[in-house]
Amino acid sequence: MKRKDILGIKDLTRSEITEILNTAKSMRESLVAGERLPVMHGKNVATLFYENSTRTKNSFELAAKNLGATTTSISVATSSVQKGESLVDTGKTLDALRTDVIILRHPIAGAPRLLADNVKASVVNAGDGFNEHPSQALLDAMTALRHFSSLAGLKIVIVGDILHSRVARSDTHCFTKLGAEVTVCAPYTLLPDGFESLGARVETDLDKALDGANIVMPLRIQRERMLGGYFSSLEEYRAYYGITEKRLRFCAAGAIVMHPAPINREAEIAGDVADGPMSVIEEQVTNGVAVRMAMLQLLTIKG
Ligand code: CP
Repeated sequence: MKRKDILGIKDLTRSEITEILNTAKSMRESLVAGERLPVMHGKNVATLFYENSTRTKNSFELAAKNLGATTTSISVATSSVQKGESLVDTGKTLDALRTDVIILRHPIAGAPRLLADNVKASVVNAGDGFNEHPSQALLDAMTALRHFSSLAGLKIVIVGDILHSRVARSDTHCFTKLGAEVTVCAPYTLLPDGFESLGARVETDLDKALDGANIVMPLRIQRERMLGGYFSSLEEYRAYYGITEKRLRFCAAGAIVMHPAPINREAEIAGDVADGPMSVIEEQVTNGVAVRMAMLQLLTIKG
């Protein structure tokens, strides 16, 4: 991979996405076979998270360690960010510490690009505001490809809080670049303008959206961002947009349910669906390590 940074799926070509997914597939096979892959021995990967995370932060750290790299974790709550140090100055400090890759999560869209333009290290966007979450989209594509031979022509429905979702944006870019037909479904209040221009179909009626779907992905109701009265009650939201076993009867045979997690049980997804036979939510987390190993290797080891 020639690029220095991975800031969004929007920037990646289909061939770059395929290169990452093929590398992740071979990483996963090596992990399952118990083979050691110390290709990043001598490299340092830093995680710099201005928002909470369980999956993304820990799986990037695990991925780096699996490749033999050392890791540094900057906890924003206890770092000099609290003394007013800027993002760029924090990045320059990480450069001075000879960091090879900075994994950044930030509440402001565009922050990873600002950092990337001002540091020597590679920057990977681990989620920026409502903009993008590229490693999530890549692990979602990897998971889909473990259940379907190709994404071409697959009907994928992303349902819920599209407005606040960086996953919806990155997944729409990724799935459409791989040939899938993406529908985003939500109440009007949670549907931002412009998704049609990303190649998605927009639908407010969930039963219509689910008709013939191969993959259903409910999104978390982001309570921390829900200050605008986007729906009248959680009960009403669940009645119209909650993913339940009954609703899933509209899907195609062999359909799967994905969720980027964390999940709100009995809100956007029923507990028995999250734990049921159609759910691949835990597999997504496992695949996340292989995808992040692939991203780190392709950014740091130039062939
Ligand atoms: N899916 C996701 O980004 O999870 P975390 O917020 O736990 O990293």
